[in-house]
Amino acid sequence: MSTRIITQTDTLRGELTVPADKSVSHRSIMLGALASGTSVVRNFLRAEDPISTMNAFRMLGIDIRDSGSEVIIKGKGIRGLAEPANIIDCGNSGTTMRLLAGVLAGQPFFSVMTGDDSLRQRPMARVIDPLRAMGADISARCSGKYAPIAIRGTALKPTDFALPIASAQVKSCILLAGLGIDGTVTVTEPEKTRDHSERMLSAMGADIAVDGLRVSLKGGRELQPFELTVPSDFSSAAFFIAAALIAPNASVTIRGVGVNPTRTGMLDILASMGASVVLENARTVSGEPVADIVCTTAPGLRAVTLGKREVARAIDEFPILCILASQAEGTTVIRGAKELRVKESDRIAAMAEGLKRMGAQVEEFEDGIAVTGKAALTGTEIESRHDHRIAMAFAVAGLIADGETAIRHASCADISFPGFYELLGGLTR
Ligand code: S3P
Repeated sequence: MSTRIITQTDTLRGELTVPADKSVSHRSIMLGALASGTSVVRNFLRAEDPISTMNAFRMLGIDIRDSGSEVIIKGKGIRGLAEPANIIDCGNSGTTMRLLAGVLAGQPFFSVMTGDDSLRQRPMARVIDPLRAMGADISARCSGKYAPIAIRGTALKPTDFALPIASAQVKSCILLAGLGIDGTVTVTEPEKTRDHSERMLSAMGADIAVDGLRVSLKGGRELQPFELTVPSDFSSAAFFIAAALIAPNASVTIRGVGVNPTRTGMLDILASMGASVVLENARTVSGEPVADIVCTTAPGLRAVTLGKREVARAIDEFPILCILASQAEGTTVIRGAKELRVKESDRIAAMAEGLKRMGAQVEEFEDGIAVTGKAALTGTEIESRHDHRIAMAFAVAGLIADGETAIRHASCADISFPGFYELLGGLTR
């Protein structure tokens, strides 16, 4: 069991680069494997989740080499995967399991996926049901709700889906399933979610069209291999942005961060809260917008009210936004966030519990939270629930809390952000 002690700081200063984007790293392996030829990925995220994807595709017969500076994937085309000789372990990674379900459903072989205690409790009907509607033969625990998932690959058919929940994983699963079909799959989302799959598929020559919330993909076309440099993950940068805003005497520059507008909802929320975050050196890297992010202490944060649309564009920033809310004047209300109950942990419950323990005034709703600031936080023991973003959010809170904040099971940060605590600590000296 790893516990990290975080102490109050009187400054936060420096320049840093956070690790590569997790979503893009997962997709680079999956799409590289399905391409007809060799792809090269630079700045791949070597963290537990994308490594689960890498191991899965090795089990599916794909030669993937990591030279240290680049990852080289010898893609075998849409129909080139081989039957795995064992159960595929997706670890803690929902993205691995849900996107892979779409890839495997149309392959001419049998496969089984499982995951850790957290992943085996996360809802899988959201991908199994649409795949079944496409003709897939899939079985899963509890009448098709939870992993392990067993798939007998079969030919899939064109379908048009209106998704009941905003989920980039479900959208991407269906698009990946559509790659091998004779015809078109269409997905309409209730809110716009991250579009990395669409961007990469389009760059690889897939027959894909995006019209607002509607994405259509016509199957059967070969995918071209690519060279890709993965930008830094905005969702990892978010912890340092928040830390700089709430710490005293702070000035932090985060270099080369992916600022795809489907991911940066937090920047708009921060603007409404009265914080100014500056983007410099904006550029495009491998089809994704990238910039350096400069932030300094924001003394006058104001409370905000957030709903479904804002939540979808800042889905992974909910934990750190709750910490920021505790330092804003007034009551911040976040609703339409039911999805947060089924992330790596129940993030609504985890944030409500931890913030209350630190002395903040919090009200929990089935679909969200209300946090009243500005709260004087006190260091205490925080249970991360083995959830990387909960651990990192409370580590940031620890920087401004009186006394010591002890984060339990802190090493779960390695799921997306190896070296997080060292990087954070380096800015306080
Ligand atoms: C992801 C989509 C989101 C996000 C997750 C990564 C992706 O999940 O929370 O961290 O890479 O597609 P949902 O699709 O469940 O919202």
